[in-house]
Amino acid sequence: MEKNFYIETFGCQMNEYDSEKISGMLQNLDYKESKDINSADLIIYNTCLIRENAENKLYGKLGALKKLKREKDDLILAVGGCIPQNEEIRSYILDKYPFIDIIFGTNTFYKLPEMISKHLNNTNEVLVELEKNSSTLNENLPTIRKFDHKAFINIMYGCNNFCSYCVVPHTRGRERSRSSEDILREARDLASKGYKEITLLGQNVNSYGNDINSNYKFTQLLEDVEKIKGIERIRYVSSHPKDVGDDFIEFLGKSKKVCNHIHLPIQSGSSKVLKEMNRKYSKEDYLEIIKKLKKAVPNISVSTDFIVGFPGESEEDFEETLDLCRKVEFDAAFTFIYSIRPDTPAGKRTDQIDDKVKHERFNKLLETLYPIFYKKNLTYIDKTVKVLVDEISKNKDDHLTGRSECNRIVHFKGTKDLIGKIVNVKITNVKTWFLEGILTEEDAYE
Ligand code: 5AD
Ligand code: SF4
Repeated sequence: MEKNFYIETFGCQMNEYDSEKISGMLQNLDYKESKDINSADLIIYNTCLIRENAENKLYGKLGALKKLKREKDDLILAVGGCIPQNEEIRSYILDKYPFIDIIFGTNTFYKLPEMISKHLNNTNEVLVELEKNSSTLNENLPTIRKFDHKAFINIMYGCNNFCSYCVVPHTRGRERSRSSEDILREARDLASKGYKEITLLGQNVNSYGNDINSNYKFTQLLEDVEKIKGIERIRYVSSHPKDVGDDFIEFLGKSKKVCNHIHLPIQSGSSKVLKEMNRKYSKEDYLEIIKKLKKAVPNISVSTDFIVGFPGESEEDFEETLDLCRKVEFDAAFTFIYSIRPDTPAGKRTDQIDDKVKHERFNKLLETLYPIFYKKNLTYIDKTVKVLVDEISKNKDDHLTGRSECNRIVHFKGTKDLIGKIVNVKITNVKTWFLEGILTEEDAYE
């Protein structure tokens, strides 16, 4: 009899990518993906620990599953990803939700098929498989990708940076780069299947290759991906400012395929806070990188991440953040309220910022950023941009949605045969978060 699985992914693109691999493995086991949790024989939560609310979301979901699990005796429930990597939280989950059958981590999801078959032989025992710094790089796993025209390729796992607020180095372990041969093979394979856009993924892609003793670094990798016929767009996330070198910037300036967008998390505009965050650059260093980037790629779009309310952040520190926003004029940003995380130095500090102050600063940051995003979007009015069409628009079924090279969401009227194609769209209207336009024969300006 056919079996269904339901998978829900929390957190970053790395988890999304892992979930694509999990789905691929399950389809090989003759499981079919279902979007309806009630019809599933296997439910998987691929979890995130980066902020407390991601953690709380999981607890809410697990609580709600208790009833389903009681009604459906042979339902298998698996919890994986970042949350189980933390010993204390794992024990809490095992204790509070004893009906979970399978627990796996960020480095052990490839063991899921084996765990499922073990579980089917003995349903009484909770199965737990975890590894801190796996040397298995999950090569050659089947992958079910969300789109047929764009895909992620993981180029490295883990993180070595130990930013003082961040749990990722504890959950995903040390940096491990995949071999360039494996990455390029995957990229060529995708190109041969008609994929046009590739996003190279890593916690810190600019440090690619630093862990393997070779001179082959991120810029070379970009150069080699660029040579692959069929790949028309290359993206990469995330870049750590401390590793953005001149050779990389120079390559961006001459590349024909790397998109004119960089996601360069700043976190704070205060050099004092940045030091305490262990970010290894100052506000001035960041501004210098932006200057160089804009010189090499004049129309580059810059997005970033901010954390407000880091322990000890003073009003002056926060003002520095607002000042930086005005100086850089970011095109987009992810904004976060600082959240205490287990095992992190910042979490142990006694000078935590009051919740009310954190929220006030958060709102002030948005009030500063949104008009900047809008102003930057206005510069696209009457310009023609190239859009890789993703899907039918969520709100209007005679409209399509895609992304411009500068990573803006673009809505325009069109038919679904354009999905997966790169089309020219002339921008007629803009909002804070997206652009609107019409299909055109005019040449694109970027
Ligand atoms: N609290 C709030 N935001 C955090 N991030 C990482 N750790 C925390 C934390 N403890 C944010 C950073 C990072 C993004 C992925 O998540 O901005 O760049
Ligand atoms: Fe976390 Fe810093 Fe590593 Fe990013 S670079 S994953 S913020 S430790």
